[in-house]
Amino acid sequence: MSAQTNTQRLVVVPELENLNSSDGSLPPASADPSSCSFCFGTGMEIVEGKGARRCQCRTRDAQTKLLEAARIPRRYSECSLSSYHPASNNGSQLRAFNLAYRLVREYPAIDRGLLLVGPCGVGKTHLAAAIIRSLVQRGVPCLFYEFGALLKQIQESYNALAQTSEMKVLAPVYDAEVLVLDELGASKPTDWVRDTMMHVINTRYNDRKLTIFTTNYPDGRRTERDEILEDRIGVRLRSRLFEMCQTVQIEGEDYRRRFDS
Ligand SMILES: Nc1ncnc2c1ncn2[C@@H]1O[C@H](COP(=O)(O)OP(=O)(O)O)[C@@H](O)[C@H]1O
Ligand SMILES: [Mg+2]
Ligand SMILES: [Zn+2]
Repeated sequence: MSAQTNTQRLVVVPELENLNSSDGSLPPASADPSSCSFCFGTGMEIVEGKGARRCQCRTRDAQTKLLEAARIPRRYSECSLSSYHPASNNGSQLRAFNLAYRLVREYPAIDRGLLLVGPCGVGKTHLAAAIIRSLVQRGVPCLFYEFGALLKQIQESYNALAQTSEMKVLAPVYDAEVLVLDELGASKPTDWVRDTMMHVINTRYNDRKLTIFTTNYPDGRRTERDEILEDRIGVRLRSRLFEMCQTVQIEGEDYRRRFDS
């Protein structure tokens, strides 16, 4: 069979000698000649009459790695734009969907992220996760963090006994091309929390990197006792977010209540 002949010819190409090396640079599955019926583990696929090209199994492996690196919580791992259904007669959900869709379609020609604002269960986290999942499918390195969890990890990294350093926690946050910070304002706003949030967000701002936020705290107060976003994150940070993000107010019922009977 010609594919077999071609494979044998490819095996003698020098860089393929590294396939069985122990440096771990290639996934073990790729070194198994039986693992892929297109390239027989070589990573190069023969297109009859045209030559060789990077095999689809390698593209898939790369995408799987990017998706794992994005750390989308399992609860939201299946969330996609196509599984977000704006409630009928809900203009705010349709608008949010359209803006999310546009961001994915036009990225990287996008200069502001999104600040998704609204009550519990309107799909803010769903949309944020769906955006980065779509971008990852296009090969963009993304990262998801619940903001409170990030702050906790930074704090723990100061502990002398911790195995991690602050930079080890923060490097992926700074490096990610697109970052989701879920639940902005949920942490008790101490001075340290505010300073750290400002620092993280400012670093991304200075690097002109896209960040998508979700928050339960609106900008407007309906009653005297309502807390607004500014109360939670401070005036300076709120002002910075106006520059970095388009604010998208989402209204609606808690979607989770649909499962109540
Ligand atoms: N418009 C929608 N279409 C489909 N699923 C939705 C929608 N809104 C919310 N959900 C689902 O409801 C649950 C709660 O949504 P979530 O994104 O966590 O809300 P929020 O972050 O606004 O509190 C999730 O499982 C999410 O997938
Ligand atoms: Mg949420
Ligand atoms: Zn292959």
